[in-house]
Amino acid sequence: MRMDGNTIFITGGSEGIGRGMAEAFHQLGNQVLIAGRREAALKAVCEANPGMRYYVLDVADPMQIVAVAKKAIADFPKLNCVIANAGVQRLYSFAGEQAPDDFLIAEEININLTGLIRTTTAFLPHLRTQERATVVHLSSGLAFVPLAACAVYCATKAAIHSFTLSLRHQYRNTSVKFVELIPPRVDTTLGGGSGNSPFSMTVPDFGAAAMNGFAGGADEVPVGHAKNLFAAGAGESAKPAFAGMNPA
Ligand SMILES: NC(=O)c1ccc[n+]([C@@H]2O[C@H](COP(=O)([O-])OP(=O)(O)OC[C@H]3O[C@@H](n4cnc5c(N)ncnc54)[C@H](OP(=O)(O)O)[C@@H]3O)[C@@H](O)[C@H]2O)c1
Repeated sequence: MRMDGNTIFITGGSEGIGRGMAEAFHQLGNQVLIAGRREAALKAVCEANPGMRYYVLDVADPMQIVAVAKKAIADFPKLNCVIANAGVQRLYSFAGEQAPDDFLIAEEININLTGLIRTTTAFLPHLRTQERATVVHLSSGLAFVPLAACAVYCATKAAIHSFTLSLRHQYRNTSVKFVELIPPRVDTTLGGGSGNSPFSMTVPDFGAAAMNGFAGGADEVPVGHAKNLFAAGAGESAKPAFAGMNPA
């Protein structure tokens, strides 16, 4: 992907990985638009990065996605890149006396998977009109080898991998490129984490590796330990089977 001169819309740009990528792209001379639920957090990121713009958006709400996509495209007709990054991670036991909360499960799927699909769908008609466009989907190393404690999260990430493969194939003869960014454990507050685990990659280190991956033009960008999980769970071995089922 070209690394400058883009107009990039990033969901979940107010903190963590999304903020890291927003700031890295901003510094490279891209027009960056960030979105999320908490206006104060979005505003603080924009104040720290003059020129960045924000949109308040809950990706669990389909009407908001359509309205915000329309507004962002009207405000920035050159918008040519969408990074669907917003996500949550919850821990549940399905083996305990009490069943996990159905509302929380549905909400997690709605944010991580349905929200990503709807965000992509809302921007695609516009992206198709651009000379060069990129859609980045955030999955996880846990898409390929699940961590049982966060079973629903891992299932949403496996589904994002599958969805991205299919859209890349459907768009193979167009100007729209689909990239799957596959993080390892990164020091953020995802899932109520402390943000400073000794086993995690830091946000700046992750951001630098992700930017290298984008610049290199790969369709799939596994980072750090996620490379091992990607190779173990799918990786290259799945490609001949996919090509066999989906002729060019
Ligand atoms: N950190 C890791 O170890 C790791 C590993 C693999 C994959 N990932 C993936 O990377 C992505 C970013 O994770 P992170 O670690 O940076 O998490 P984070 O620090 O918790 O940040 C999550 C971001 O998503 C936004 N968000 C959450 N729910 C939203 C909603 N309903 N609508 C709009 N925005 C929403 C949050 O903003 P608001 O709360 O203001 O809405 C926040 O900006 C996620 O997709 C995650 O699954 C993370």
